Amino acid sequence: MITVSDITKGYGGRTLFDSVNVAFSPGHKYGLTGPNGAGKSTMMKILIGAEESDRGIVSRPERTAWLRQDHFAFDAHTVMDTVMMGNARLWDAIQRKEAIYAKEDISDEEGELLGELECVVAEEDGYTADAEAATLLAGLGIGEEHHFTLMSEMQGGMKVRVLLAQSLFGKPDAMLLDEPTNHLDLESIQWLEDFLTRYDGVLVVISHDRRFLNAVCDYIADIDFQAIILYPGNYDDMVRQKAQVRGRIDREVSEKSKKIAQLQEFVQRFKAGSRASQVRSRAKQIERLRPDEIKRSNIVRPFIRFTAGDRPSGRDVLEVRDLSHAYEDLEIFKGLNTMIHRGDKVAILGRNAVGKTTLVKALLDEQNEIDGTVKWGHNTRIGYFGHDHREEITKDMTVYTWLFAQRPEVGEQNVRAILGRMLFSGADGQKSTNVLSGGEAARLKMCELILMEYNVLLLDEPTDHLDLESISALRDAIEAYDGTIFYVTHDRDLATAATRILSYPRPGELLEYDGTVDEYLDWYENHYVKVSA
Ligand SMILES: Nc1ncnc2c1ncn2[C@@H]1O[C@H](COP(=O)(O)OP(=O)(O)OP(=O)(O)O)[C@@H](O)[C@H]1O
Ligand SMILES: [Mg+2]
Repeated sequence: MITVSDITKGYGGRTLFDSVNVAFSPGHKYGLTGPNGAGKSTMMKILIGAEESDRGIVSRPERTAWLRQDHFAFDAHTVMDTVMMGNARLWDAIQRKEAIYAKEDISDEEGELLGELECVVAEEDGYTADAEAATLLAGLGIGEEHHFTLMSEMQGGMKVRVLLAQSLFGKPDAMLLDEPTNHLDLESIQWLEDFLTRYDGVLVVISHDRRFLNAVCDYIADIDFQAIILYPGNYDDMVRQKAQVRGRIDREVSEKSKKIAQLQEFVQRFKAGSRASQVRSRAKQIERLRPDEIKRSNIVRPFIRFTAGDRPSGRDVLEVRDLSHAYEDLEIFKGLNTMIHRGDKVAILGRNAVGKTTLVKALLDEQNEIDGTVKWGHNTRIGYFGHDHREEITKDMTVYTWLFAQRPEVGEQNVRAILGRMLFSGADGQKSTNVLSGGEAARLKMCELILMEYNVLLLDEPTDHLDLESISALRDAIEAYDGTIFYVTHDRDLATAATRILSYPRPGELLEYDGTVDEYLDWYENHYVKVSA
């Protein structure tokens, strides 16, 4: 059981949680939901003890695992070590033991410490740990050949599996998962759903994926109005119940505001006059009604509009000739020929690990080790949104100064206008780039794509981290864009904005289709599969 009592948390004047009380019980599966920046990851960090609250207490099982939203956190470690870190006590003991053995001579104190560490290792089944980690990894589809691969070299979907193995390694009584479906294809998500359904500890999972939440959760813990409200049922049940609750809260908020306005008017009118005591009492009432700010629902929608500006590219945007690539004996694509014209909207579809990111990077020619020719047309200016977009946002700046620095010549006003439309208004623009939530970082990178007026965009899984409102705003933006766009996605809705499809139905097999995703799927099932079978 995880219990949260009277938790209050805020950052620099903004309250995320105000006296939250909630309990998560074993055997139940809780979806923790709320829009980008609502405080989901923050609450999870408070639950695990990685972040302090301003007030209140949390109790949790000793063995509680946490899968972070940031999948890059273990990039410098091998797969095996990453899994072992799932048992913090054991990992710490092993590290300290090795540090002592690495010394030339060992003091008496160190000798004694070694003895204690050996006990810890034994208590935590340290001698069978390797085998146990290997079994877990194998169960998740990761073979021995990857045990000593660096996490930075693991492909997105595989990385998540390793992180899950890490979570499971400590045999947790409670599991906290922050957006585990990011970078997973539909098949892997299905696998994760089955897996979580069988888990019998306490599960709290953050996700923006409505289908996934419906399949896994029997409770939704929704963050809104600085509180966490528990709704029995899955995500769709929550949406129905919430509409009713929200109606009531909205009415309360508007009554409160009205009351405050009346009181304020009284204070204004009589503050210089003779009714001093009445004015004082009214002012006090205002204070009481407004402890810090009136709680408001935080569901809002950004306005995303990419444009190629007044410098469009030539008509022929990209010519690809005989493009081939293989990792050792794994063929990613072979003899790809294509011609992309201005205004084409190309969705790149396919399962995990088939090479979508490799294709995008080949087009950018980042690796420079691809066979064939990639020829970008006249006047093309390319904007890129990759998995690691967060790393491109310079640390220790404010949101505003970072964006402004990308293109100072457009002036402060324009930069602020873009930030405002993308939901970084006023104080949010002054926020440090170090503290952005996953969704906020993605949104800020999109501000840059808007500001720069690129005439070609390459987006690699742009919907990861985004809430539902933002995903739908992004779909509108792709549809309205006057440049040329390539985007990798697992999101069926987002794919409907495309006019051409590049698809990997199987590893190494890349199909090109001129038409929408619906037409493609129809053709694929009724024509392609039959003909090639
Ligand atoms: N150290 C900090 N200082 C100031 N603000 C912070 C700090 N850490 C987080 N925040 C802000 O708190 C808010 C909540 O962040 P959090 O990461 O919990 O959001 P989230 O609900 O997980 O969002 P997402 O869906 O985008 O992942 C964000 O607006 C974030 O910028
Ligand atoms: Mg988050």
